Amino acid sequence: MTWTRRHILDLDDFSREEIETVLETAGAMKEVLTRPVPKVPTLRGKRVVTLFYEPSTRTRSSFDLAAKTLSAEVVGIAAQTSSVTKGESLLDTIRTLEALGADAIVIRHPESGVPYLAARFSRASIINAGDGAHAHPTQALLDIFTLKERLGRIDGLRVVILGDILHSRVARSNIWGLGKTGARVVLCGPPTLLPPLFAQAYPGVEVEGNLERALEGADAVMALRLQRERFQDALLPSLNEYVGLYQLTPQRLALARAGAPVLHPGPMNEGVEIDPEVAQGPQSAVLDQVANGVAVRMALLYLLLGGAR
Ligand code: CP
Repeated sequence: MTWTRRHILDLDDFSREEIETVLETAGAMKEVLTRPVPKVPTLRGKRVVTLFYEPSTRTRSSFDLAAKTLSAEVVGIAAQTSSVTKGESLLDTIRTLEALGADAIVIRHPESGVPYLAARFSRASIINAGDGAHAHPTQALLDIFTLKERLGRIDGLRVVILGDILHSRVARSNIWGLGKTGARVVLCGPPTLLPPLFAQAYPGVEVEGNLERALEGADAVMALRLQRERFQDALLPSLNEYVGLYQLTPQRLALARAGAPVLHPGPMNEGVEIDPEVAQGPQSAVLDQVANGVAVRMALLYLLLGGAR
């Protein structure tokens, strides 16, 4: 297909063909990463800025590595140490980065919608690296890539997303991405973290409050961290009760299909949403997800800035 998309904001408006193009391109990029010298000149002369208003380990470092592997120039800006602290507006920051020659701006922000605002006013490509509880499209793409790598397909898979769905941008982008590529998504969590309205908001998605029923025969499970920094109210009677009812334990995982991969976007709180034995066990795909994040982000940078257009 001919790639025409200029920004990556979420997967809701991606076609299945576009997602498959990203996955295929990421496969080729993964081969580059296995070379003795993992570096290609594809994006020489291009400038990528990572602009993070929230902490990050995986997303920021993998965009950095992805851009460097493609020989782009990379500048990293953390809002806490930038002129944002002196009152500079988002749009002035974006204009400043453009004036410095940015071809792509990778932005993470605690407010939902900020990358959309940036894209309206930016000549540079905007990549959403997570906006509030709304979307994290590059994470969903690497999750789908990892699942396909492990299971050979996405079509027809029953994927359980478990935990703090309410605050999860990862869950929302995966609902779109997995749905478009043919998976059945089952959301599971306590009612305060999984409002029943989700079933209406996302047609085709199942909502199941009972973890044992959700896991029965599942092809894959994605556990999510409790994002207590985003809690506005006391949403859980107690952490112990949550752990007792919703932690992904070896006994519960045994209800899923044999060998079902376990995903987690990270950072993990082992002992809370996931038992350490599961997090570190043979079914865990967590480190594959991290490694695949570089290949998927290389693919996206290549498609947005490279010779594909
Ligand atoms: N999955 C994810 O977004 O991780 P970071 O917050 O470390 O980037």
